[in-house]
Amino acid sequence: MPENGHQNLAMVTCTAPVNIAVIKYWGKRDEDLILPINSSLSVTLHQEQLKTMTTIACSRSFQQDRIWLNGKEEDISCPRLQSCLQEIRRLARKRRNTGDPTSDVSIVSNKVHICSVNNFPTAAGLASSAAGYACLVYTLSQLFGVEGELSAVARQGSGSACRSLYGGFVQWKMGEWSDGKDSIAEQVESESYWPELRVLILVVSAEQKSVGSTSGMHTSVKTSQLLKYRASVVVPCRMEEMIRVIRQRDFQAFGELTMKDSNQFHATCLDTYPPIFYLNNVSHRIISLVHRYNQYYGETKVAYTFDAGPNAVIYTLQEHLPEFVQVVRHFFPSEANGSEFVRGLPVCSADLSEELKRDLNMEPTPKGIHYIISTKAGPGPCVVEDPSQHLLGVDGLPKKRVVSE
Ligand code: DP6
Repeated sequence: MPENGHQNLAMVTCTAPVNIAVIKYWGKRDEDLILPINSSLSVTLHQEQLKTMTTIACSRSFQQDRIWLNGKEEDISCPRLQSCLQEIRRLARKRRNTGDPTSDVSIVSNKVHICSVNNFPTAAGLASSAAGYACLVYTLSQLFGVEGELSAVARQGSGSACRSLYGGFVQWKMGEWSDGKDSIAEQVESESYWPELRVLILVVSAEQKSVGSTSGMHTSVKTSQLLKYRASVVVPCRMEEMIRVIRQRDFQAFGELTMKDSNQFHATCLDTYPPIFYLNNVSHRIISLVHRYNQYYGETKVAYTFDAGPNAVIYTLQEHLPEFVQVVRHFFPSEANGSEFVRGLPVCSADLSEELKRDLNMEPTPKGIHYIISTKAGPGPCVVEDPSQHLLGVDGLPKKRVVSE
């Protein structure tokens, strides 16, 4: 851990990825410790397209803990932030008490300054709390020299954050203990296991802000009978099946299960009282388009999944990508020219046959989709070695106002 002798300032910068669940987490059995009512499984997305970067500095001269998110100072007293900070400091002290000679005893009691930015626009409506809390916990652990099980700490920031501590295919085992120590994330397969798998995020234009996942799932747990059945009967079988089909790289089965689980999650939202609607008309049109496209070929070539908002995440294989992107362009014509509409990993152009367009039989929805982010599975959190990348200056304050978009 680097230390600047003159300023008595230690500083570390790390990055962490976003993850998208294919078996969804929805519902807590313990709201304080963030313990889920079912296990879940996600794909970690590549950080070249979507990541959070966090710099944390600590110094004897800092008066208080402080945090800046996307250029704006936020309230550090937020209980979830406090849980993560307290838990990492506890683990760091524990390490000191067990007499680890490499642990730096003094810095744990110093105050920290935290500065965090996303490389994707907040306006895109992509869940950023998973990458944010994973990055916070990982960076703190690097600063204080804490090793071992970090996913149980990140989980206390935001449930889905525990899965962002690993790359590739990751399961969050719900666990059984009341202290939550067995409610942890585990890598199922690494990001290189299924290289043909590709991910598209279709950023849908949304007029209104939807109900947050924390309050949404709270109401679902209280009111939805379907959620009880899902958590106790459906998800345990689906977890086993999902792990099996990923290991077999069986896209047909993976895609089908992914879509069914997304649909059941949104069905539990509708079964919540009062009901919660995360999908809008454009989301519904994307669902129809995917089913019509798969039906045309008589196989599952593309699959959708939706979280607590209208954006679609599409899983497909590299060989199907150019044509499907062209299908999206055709049915959701945008004002943006070609390169602006598809961002991230390049996608080759493709021609659509008249027969396919006719068979899909849908009216185009102009401007329904803002843009597409093209990406793939990627690695877990990383340390940024280059000191010029630090978001905090030697004075311990944000170097410049960083605003996402
Ligand atoms: C629909 O992790 O954001 O994205 O634990 O309350 O912070 P809290 O909720 P959060 O919920 C994510 C819900 C989801 C499904 C998923 O990612 O598994």
